Amino acid sequence: TKRIGILTAGGDAPGLNAAIRGFGKAAIRDHGWTLLGFRDGLRGLAENRFTELDGAALSGILTTGGTMLGTSRDKVHRMVVDGEVRDMVPTIVDNYARDGLDALICLGGGGTAKNAKRLMDAGLNVIHLPKTIDNDIVETDSSFGFSTALEIATEAVDRLHSTAHSHHRIILAEIMGHRAGWLALGAGIAGGADVILLPEIPYSVEAIAERIEQRRSHGSTFSVVAVAEGALSRADAAELDRARALVKDASTPELKAMAKRNVKALEASHRANTFTLAEQLETATGLEARVSILGYVQRGGIPNAADRLLGTRLGVAGARAVAEGTFGVMVADRGHDTALVPLTEVAGRIKYVPTDHEWVRAARAVGTALGD
Ligand code: F6P
Repeated sequence: TKRIGILTAGGDAPGLNAAIRGFGKAAIRDHGWTLLGFRDGLRGLAENRFTELDGAALSGILTTGGTMLGTSRDKVHRMVVDGEVRDMVPTIVDNYARDGLDALICLGGGGTAKNAKRLMDAGLNVIHLPKTIDNDIVETDSSFGFSTALEIATEAVDRLHSTAHSHHRIILAEIMGHRAGWLALGAGIAGGADVILLPEIPYSVEAIAERIEQRRSHGSTFSVVAVAEGALSRADAAELDRARALVKDASTPELKAMAKRNVKALEASHRANTFTLAEQLETATGLEARVSILGYVQRGGIPNAADRLLGTRLGVAGARAVAEGTFGVMVADRGHDTALVPLTEVAGRIKYVPTDHEWVRAARAVGTALGD
């Protein structure tokens, strides 16, 4: 009989427990394997903190939000331990052997895929299940968490209309998505936003103001703007492009590290610009503007039916991969089927919204401005 470790890493998302349960029930019921749940993501793996998950532990979690195992944003090769940054890969390899594991199942997003690949390179049998509300994992149609977050963000955009209308205001709804704009785009379209701003399409304040003015000339004295938290003005996007080019061109590891820090600092400063944009729009239009940050509400609470179904499907397919002995892969959602994609094709890549994507074209076709 096999011994399998399972953990959840990165930001939490609705559907994680459905996936743990899907994998776990197949592992225990179909195969009689032993399942060890590591606490708090990769940190628990490095510290060898786990509990055995039996049928009873998996019962009643399908419909619950968050992750029953806890999570963290730690990186295996650079973990802060006792105030020091340490490479914990060798420790993890030791723990894996000591616990007698045959495989490790990592549920997480892009960062987790990178960590899973590092563990694969160190010789562990790893399988990754794609989770993120941002929907920015490559090679998979979707990831669990996205559908629920889309419903929550859509309802928020929806609700902002009546209050914006009543007060003749511009309301900017800041929606999660620090690198890719899937959630803002989807919720913006479904919630009927007048303007949608994405990281992939740099905006100009003039173009947004023009759309708002146009609405006013037709008698609508309010507007709802769906803003992805990573949305950038044209000037900021150009600055970030230059900073990213410096990372590529850096001639020494020290310069590269410095350039990377600069990119991170710029990303962080630009991410806080929704309030600045609101002020700029007030000045440009003379209308009052308000910001509504949707924040963690988008990640919290029970998963919807689609995410319960997706988590269960991907979890069960993960158990099938273990039974077949296929490792070093992500279980991808492909239509009504699943596929096993090598982690080498996933780690380090981001699924951006293509600027000619059907959703982008649909938004434009119904008169939504994209700020460009
Ligand atoms: O998982 C990604 C995400 O949803 C991003 O859109 C957002 O920037 C991030 O989580 C914030 O989460 P935390 O504060 O937990 O790092």
